[in-house]
Amino acid sequence: MPTYKYKLVSTQIAQLLKNAQTEISQVETLAALDDIRVKYLGKNGFLTQELKALGSLSPDERPVQGQIINQGKAEILSWLNARRQILQEVSLKAKLSAEAVDITLPGRLSHRGGRHPITQTIERICELFSQLGFAQVEGPEVEDDYHNFEALNFPKDHPARAMHDTFYFDSGLLLRTHTSSVQIRYMEAEKPPYRILVPGRVYRCDSDMTHTPMFHQVEGLLVDKGIRFTDLMGHLEAFLTMFFDPLKVDIRFRPSYFPFTEPSTEVDIRIGDGDWLEVLGAGMVHPEVFKFVDVDSEKYTGYAFGMGVERLAMLRHGVTDLRTFFENDLRFLNFFN
Ligand code: FA5
Ligand code: MG
Repeated sequence: MPTYKYKLVSTQIAQLLKNAQTEISQVETLAALDDIRVKYLGKNGFLTQELKALGSLSPDERPVQGQIINQGKAEILSWLNARRQILQEVSLKAKLSAEAVDITLPGRLSHRGGRHPITQTIERICELFSQLGFAQVEGPEVEDDYHNFEALNFPKDHPARAMHDTFYFDSGLLLRTHTSSVQIRYMEAEKPPYRILVPGRVYRCDSDMTHTPMFHQVEGLLVDKGIRFTDLMGHLEAFLTMFFDPLKVDIRFRPSYFPFTEPSTEVDIRIGDGDWLEVLGAGMVHPEVFKFVDVDSEKYTGYAFGMGVERLAMLRHGVTDLRTFFENDLRFLNFFN
């Protein structure tokens, strides 16, 4: 009887081992392999249950049957380990080939940043004028009517006020239409003589090949004793010649009108045999403006100018549509760096 029982049990173990071996050899993933381990060797696994059942055997049978079960466990463990190694290798190979680096491919170039062509143009303008002793000053882009118009001698109902298509806020404030507003702010705050350059953004409801709703101006203001219109012309001509060097530039002073200068002029330039393009407005500071800021026009005279930065940049670089400066197409911008 004991022999029979022993044989019965060991036959069961043999069957379990056979099943385990088949399952292990067919498993494809590490997770499934671990499920098999639990199924046979886990706390409630088949072989663990067999071990627990040892208690019901007779004292002679127990050690023999225990040894068989333990050998079986060791067998299954060694199959599990062998299979685990194979599966680990397979998954490592898959991972390596998925992450493979082709070292024969050309590397990715890193791009160097650069300054926007408009910034470069402003810096060039300021640098050239600093050689004439002009200091750089800034003012607010959100302005009031007084500094943008009134103190510049635009009376309330003056038609020149409609010349600028102005962006107004509900509060009555506005986006400055020119940098001339900073002339007023600076003269209010400082005593003459003045020699300043004011770069900045200005805003108008305008858009075509040579107009954008936001653009940049550089304002110049020179006030001292004995400043004359010929100083203005001489300085502007010297500046424009240096600015466009080595390009040959034709310069044309055209009589014009601004309420804050008298006399007034607009300057057009032409590169090679291109078209004339207006690049700036200028003139002698109007005595009415000096009154607003409390400067003695008997003692002081001066000139002012306001130049269009985008216009100067487009002429210098042969750009035909001014709006491309603001589209931020890197193929265009990289051309300037
Ligand atoms: C003025 O804005 C005057 N404040 C200039 C001035 C200053 C005159 C000091 C006298 C004394 P004007 O509107 O013409 O003037 O503009 C000056 C320049 O800005 C133009 O010559 C042009 O080069 C540029 N400009 C004007 N409108 C635009 C626009 N919408 N887009 C790009 N550039 C413009
Ligand atoms: Mg103009």
